[in-house]
Amino acid sequence: MTPWKVLPSGPLLGELSVNGDKSVSHRSLLIGALCDGPVDVEGWGDSADTRATLEAVRSLGVRVEDHGHGRLTVHGVGIAGLKPPVGAIDVRNAGTLMRLLTGICAMQPSGVFTLDGDESIRSRPMERVAKPLRTMGAEVETTDGRPPVTITGGVPLYGMEHAMEVSSAQVKSAILLAGLRADGPTTVIEETSTRDHTERMLRAAGATVQTVGKRVVLQPTEHLRLDRIEVPGDMSSAAFLIVAATLIPESRIFLRGIGMGAGRTGLLDVLERMGSRIGVFNRRTTEAGEPVADLEVAHADLTASSIRGHEVASLVDELPILALAACTARGRTRVREAEELKFKESNRLESVYEALRGIGGRIELEDDGWFIRGVPARLRGGTVNARGDHRIAMLGAIAGLYSEEGVTITDPEAIDVSFPGFRPLIEAVTAERRR
Ligand code: S3P
Repeated sequence: MTPWKVLPSGPLLGELSVNGDKSVSHRSLLIGALCDGPVDVEGWGDSADTRATLEAVRSLGVRVEDHGHGRLTVHGVGIAGLKPPVGAIDVRNAGTLMRLLTGICAMQPSGVFTLDGDESIRSRPMERVAKPLRTMGAEVETTDGRPPVTITGGVPLYGMEHAMEVSSAQVKSAILLAGLRADGPTTVIEETSTRDHTERMLRAAGATVQTVGKRVVLQPTEHLRLDRIEVPGDMSSAAFLIVAATLIPESRIFLRGIGMGAGRTGLLDVLERMGSRIGVFNRRTTEAGEPVADLEVAHADLTASSIRGHEVASLVDELPILALAACTARGRTRVREAEELKFKESNRLESVYEALRGIGGRIELEDDGWFIRGVPARLRGGTVNARGDHRIAMLGAIAGLYSEEGVTITDPEAIDVSFPGFRPLIEAVTAERRR
């Protein structure tokens, strides 16, 4: 592991591009695999996580052509056509793959499927998925509630009504995907709405999925068909650049085709309350039903704004970078009811606290969030150990750009999990400043 030192930067200027959305990229392969015939994917976000999904669907007997530059053709084998591989499927670090594939395997007509992953995956809760699937009749075994997970296909599934215990798009998606071959409708009731990429893609593929208030109802189906999936730019990657441009004086950046789906834009709402200057233009919807827009972000002085529980799901992956914005905003921020951060690639309540505290942020760790005393100035800088978590490594890098002394990230390779182009992009921006 070679550490990466990110130096203080001048303004970020011009058009910057981000990778394809990770959530939609996973789903393009997983739902594409269940379609009848070929599905062309454009703008696919190539990363360690999505590569794990590419390899997983290939190991299940699905041919995927990789044409390069984010273009894939997924030769779907139909809803019930997956073949269990010999040995375990390695999901590596990808929680979305682990959860969604569990639901998909549960509705296959035969075979035994084992899903396993890296050390971080092996510490993540799986009963939240296994339990509701068992209620549908599925045979799912966890290892003390965690991966490895073994799923036995060929078991009849019953449509059911499930009230979610935690706010999780991955759990909702696993249940809905299993429901594709249930004997009747499957209903998921969400107290707080989460990202709805699965519902949108299934609808575009011809399934009947209705969302009315807190209820998502899916009718079983025999066939899915989808010609083309255009993957939007990833809001969760853009978030790092949005906060960087907001913090660094004289910055002005453009980001094109960013996904604006429900459950993904909470960061923009909170930054708006804090006084950001973000323009949203050219709103449109892709063929596979995803809302996208272009964004223009200019520097602004921020004022603190607390984050309440019902907002957490809409910015769950953006809370680490938002905590940096809060450290440099005028006033105090309280983030509450964010316990779900404990179950991400690292315990993010702790890893964000340690990262920001270590570089001069005035942040305190609470049971369900943080209390932050913002100081409107650059942070001192120092060292960030990302604990192998991509979003903590990128948080460290953006903090370095807006620091006095720079920030050294001890394990920058973690970034490849979601945004391999991040480091070259940041290095290009920094180099520009030095000229
Ligand atoms: C995701 C859902 C969220 C999010 C993760 C991606 C998805 O997880 O944190 O990065 O693609 O459905 P949870 O469902 O566990 O909240």
